[in-house]
Amino acid sequence: MAGRNGSTQVTATARIDVHLRPDDLSRALRDDARRGLTSTPKELPPKYFYDERGSLLFDEITRLPEYYPTRREREILVAHADDIARLTDAHTLVELGSGTSEKTRILLDALCRRDCLRRFAPFDVSESILRQAAGEINDEYSHLEVHAVVGDFERHIPALPNSERRLIAFLGGTIGNFAPDPRRAFLASLATNMHEGDVLLIGFDLVKDVARLEAAYNDARGVTAEFNRNVLRVLNRELGADLVPERFEHVAVWDPSEEWIEMRLRSTADQDAQVPELGLRVHFDAGEQMRTEISAKFTPDRIVADLDASGLARAAWWTDAAGDFGVALAERA
Ligand code: AVJ
Repeated sequence: MAGRNGSTQVTATARIDVHLRPDDLSRALRDDARRGLTSTPKELPPKYFYDERGSLLFDEITRLPEYYPTRREREILVAHADDIARLTDAHTLVELGSGTSEKTRILLDALCRRDCLRRFAPFDVSESILRQAAGEINDEYSHLEVHAVVGDFERHIPALPNSERRLIAFLGGTIGNFAPDPRRAFLASLATNMHEGDVLLIGFDLVKDVARLEAAYNDARGVTAEFNRNVLRVLNRELGADLVPERFEHVAVWDPSEEWIEMRLRSTADQDAQVPELGLRVHFDAGEQMRTEISAKFTPDRIVADLDASGLARAAWWTDAAGDFGVALAERA
């Protein structure tokens, strides 16, 4: 049985522990939207991009010529999956924010070649995405036990299945969505929940030429712009708001002092929006910008410093041939 107030379901295919209900998610959205839309400057957290349409748009982003991180990380995993298997000898692969499972398969295949792996534990906020991923992996890797966890990785890390030698994968550069303090708090919560033999595999996008960074978040076809505006559609649907996506422009700029890409939506007009579910009327000045995402980029030294400050020690480290992206293995210090 799942711990705390979660519920567990065992099906013919996989076990799924649910620690987060759709109700919890909509409450979080209301709180975040109220706080963000009434603060100065306005701000929305990036986790609400990923409804069904947003997840499809993100998938499309990963295939854009300008968006290099997915390809670079895949290159690293293909080149080093067998090293990762040898160094970790993992019994369980935990995948945080599992999303699409293409990269998962690279790791699963290497861990199966080594014949150490017994269990796959995908972790995501979306129960439907998890059910699909869990089902697919269960069919393709019939000897593996699949134990999925629906949760928020800022709150439910302690609910991860416990076993010896867990390989906890946090890929894609998603760590970049955290501001520095929450980033270290999140890494520290991972460290606290890791035991001897557990390892963290984490992907970081690296600081590079500004033009390439900005292009990766402002593609010629405008897919990222649509992805950015999608958060407005999410607010419209979930909170009954009447935001007009066409009245907001996509902005993606490099902040050299913070070393992160900042995505914003810029109001093209003086306008008001109603948010009935929050009892709010929100005013946007013409040209006003609302922050929707930060995507921090790293230097190898900063990665070591962040891991170190969180009670983790870097055990191995790889980059792609071009030096665009990095993947680190870390243990509890
Ligand atoms: C999924 C958070 C890694 O920051 O690059 C892609 C999201 N935003 N294009 C990133 C994203 C705009 C992506 N992460």
